Amino acid sequence: MVKVSICVGSACHMKGSHATTQLFQQEIERLGLGSQVELSASFCMGECKSGPCVRVNGVKFYHVDQDRVASLMREEVLPLCGG
Ligand code: FES
Repeated sequence: MVKVSICVGSACHMKGSHATTQLFQQEIERLGLGSQVELSASFCMGECKSGPCVRVNGVKFYHVDQDRVASLMREEVLPLCGG
């Protein structure tokens, strides 16, 4: 199971982490990865200036706005799914 966790602390929320979460959900469904990717919300990751922050299996990624979700899925999440 690949764990994708999105910061929903107030700074990241202001920077659009809700939209980021929705897009991740859509991408996971589109790619049929619902059984392989676990999406969750996280409290502040301590990197508020660089939000929205996302962790993929413990590795942090910064400035994950809507434009970056598809590429992050393709480059970081999909390889961990073995496909
Ligand atoms: S609110 Fe997201 S890192 Fe602090």
